[in-house]
Amino acid sequence: MNKLGRVYLVGTGPGDPDLLTIKAARIITQADVVVYDRLVSNEVLEIVPKTSPMISVGKAPNCHPVPQPEINRILVREAAKGRTVARLKGGDPFIFGRGLEEVSALLEAGLRVDVVPGITAAQGCSASTGVPLTHRGLAAGVRYVTGHRRHNEPLDLEWRSLADPETTVVIYMGAANIGEIASNLIAAGLAWNTPVLAVNNGTTPRERRLVADLATIGRRAAAAEFSGPVLFIVGPVVHLYRRSLLSPLVSSLGQETYF
Ligand SMILES: C[S@@+](CC[C@H](N)C(=O)[O-])C[C@H]1O[C@@H](n2cnc3c(N)ncnc32)[C@H](O)[C@@H]1O
Repeated sequence: MNKLGRVYLVGTGPGDPDLLTIKAARIITQADVVVYDRLVSNEVLEIVPKTSPMISVGKAPNCHPVPQPEINRILVREAAKGRTVARLKGGDPFIFGRGLEEVSALLEAGLRVDVVPGITAAQGCSASTGVPLTHRGLAAGVRYVTGHRRHNEPLDLEWRSLADPETTVVIYMGAANIGEIASNLIAAGLAWNTPVLAVNNGTTPRERRLVADLATIGRRAAAAEFSGPVLFIVGPVVHLYRRSLLSPLVSSLGQETYF
């Protein structure tokens, strides 16, 4: 009887390979085959042994070279050969990562699957810029929201509840719509001068930062012509950015832009 394979859905964090968990690093270096996303950084891919087969299933916004059902089929196919598959995903597999869709497909095929958590972009970018997502007296909570809807459907977020000056709002996948998002937050009651920090390619040597406010972030983010993933942190905690003591590692990274 053939040995049944096993798939590990591995969160690889926001880019810096030092942010991998020990478990993630072990699985990446020991797997029989590696299946990886566009958001998995080159620095993380460098730890994959040269002898391991690698399958790219990268997707770009509005461009899906490998549709999700096909990714599911690839995972099932590789595991059904009796292989241990490391399915690498950017950040954490269960934060805007379609992780459960892959888990379900594998379980339906009768395969074993384990989820390995990763540091999500919000946590990575918070640490690399020195901006805490909560802070006594400034933010009593934090919300992670998507700035993008499937098939470019209109954004129908709960603007009234998001426009809470005591909650930090972290926007994933918002680069194309940040102007519209900011206008909606202002219309729902947030002050126009609420600060916004955009972090591009956070935790990698290509990290760029932009500090603006709700009134200007749309125009300024467009002018910045970011390439690669961008995360937006909205709320009074961004005022702490300039005062933050940054570690030598962080201050040696990338560039920052003040407006
Ligand atoms: C499809 S979501 C995946 C999120 C991922 N599962 C996570 O937990 O971070 C992709 C979005 O995550 C954010 N993102 C991921 N990596 C990032 C990074 N290194 N710097 C800035 N934003 C990042 C961006 O907002 C990007 O559009």
